Amino acid sequence: MAILITGGCGFIGSHTCLEMMSAGYDIVVMDNYYNSDPIALERVRALAGRDFPFYECDIRDADGLRNIFEHHTIDAVIHFAGLKAVGESVQKPLEYYDNNVGGTVTLCEVMAEYGCKRMIFSSSATVYGMGNPSPLLETYPTGAVTNPYGRTKYVIEEILKDLCVSDPEWSVVLLRYFNPIGAHESGQIGENPNGIPNNLMPYVSQVAIGKRPFLSVFGDDYDTPDGTGVRDYIHVVDLAKGHVKATDYALENAGAEVFNLGTGKGTSVLDLVKTFEKVNGVPVPYKVVARRAGDIATCYSDPTKAKEVLHWVAEKDLEDMCRDTWKWQSQNPDGFC
Ligand code: NAD
Ligand code: UFG
Repeated sequence: MAILITGGCGFIGSHTCLEMMSAGYDIVVMDNYYNSDPIALERVRALAGRDFPFYECDIRDADGLRNIFEHHTIDAVIHFAGLKAVGESVQKPLEYYDNNVGGTVTLCEVMAEYGCKRMIFSSSATVYGMGNPSPLLETYPTGAVTNPYGRTKYVIEEILKDLCVSDPEWSVVLLRYFNPIGAHESGQIGENPNGIPNNLMPYVSQVAIGKRPFLSVFGDDYDTPDGTGVRDYIHVVDLAKGHVKATDYALENAGAEVFNLGTGKGTSVLDLVKTFEKVNGVPVPYKVVARRAGDIATCYSDPTKAKEVLHWVAEKDLEDMCRDTWKWQSQNPDGFC
């Protein structure tokens, strides 16, 4: 029995590989290295003190996937592989639909050929769109998304729900992540963005290490306590542990089920900057600039369902997230190399 992890070399995938092995699962990992470095998995092996099979393979390559299923008995798939840059998705929508939606359809087809009908899917809070109030509940309407990336997540959720209706043997766990940040406490694996980071925490840590002169805070006139955007930041190791619980659940239950993975707490941009400076003793200069198009004021989860059904809660706080991010950034100023 083994769990296939697609996109397992990436930020969330690499942390999940480690937590799955710690929980006693055997894993098989695949990635096409589009947005990751093989060194990440070497470090995962060293941290785990264990080896696992790896396949360099694209989820759109049906024969490549068949080769994996021919060599291993796969009980469930944790499906991270996908493109995730919101701005790029606006420029290259077809690549996003092909990779994320087309790739997921191919993956499901090959899984079904081999009788593997359990999937844990990386969805996003972005599917809640602009119109819902926080705290966000799984029952709120989805689909009012504002960019092609978000639309791929929404469409994949709908496809996977349809699949469960068509065949009651399928078990699909849709995990809606809020804002994953942090790194493994060893400082050996973490987020390694290409080019200028789009997201807040990688930008903050690159300012702290001197790669960028200051952080641009996108607006301080939102209807929030200090006027800056409020998000639900979650430590990537807590998120990874959520996948262990979701896998346990998928092995025992059929049908499609949706869970928010967040802390339930809102943190503003300035809260995060101040906590990072305090915990790490490093300055993070910033300038307030105009709002970023498409941003909302506030987005945080109600994580009650994951607590009650999956028996999962986020255990790490914002200080842990800031400390571990800095450990990763300061030990690996140029990422995996
Ligand atoms: P990441 O880019 O670090 O990891 C994704 C991995 O998938 C990479 O290693 C990449 O090389 C691989 N990949 C991409 N396309 C592939 C393909 N066609 N075939 C095989 N491998 C492929 O991203 P991440 O932050 O670890 O995100 C993992 C998943 O979680 C993604 O689906 C992402 O959309 C989703 N998600 C991420 C966030 C976030 O803020 N990081 C939030 C919500 C949802
Ligand atoms: N922000 C800044 N300066 C920056 C970057 C971000 O002020 O340089 C602010 C944003 O305006 C926002 C907050 O920091 O208020 C968080 O921004 P991120 O870009 O880190 O995260 P988002 O909540 O905008 O989006 C992220 C992912 C999306 C995903 C969404 C919900 O990028 O892909 O979380 O899961 F859909």
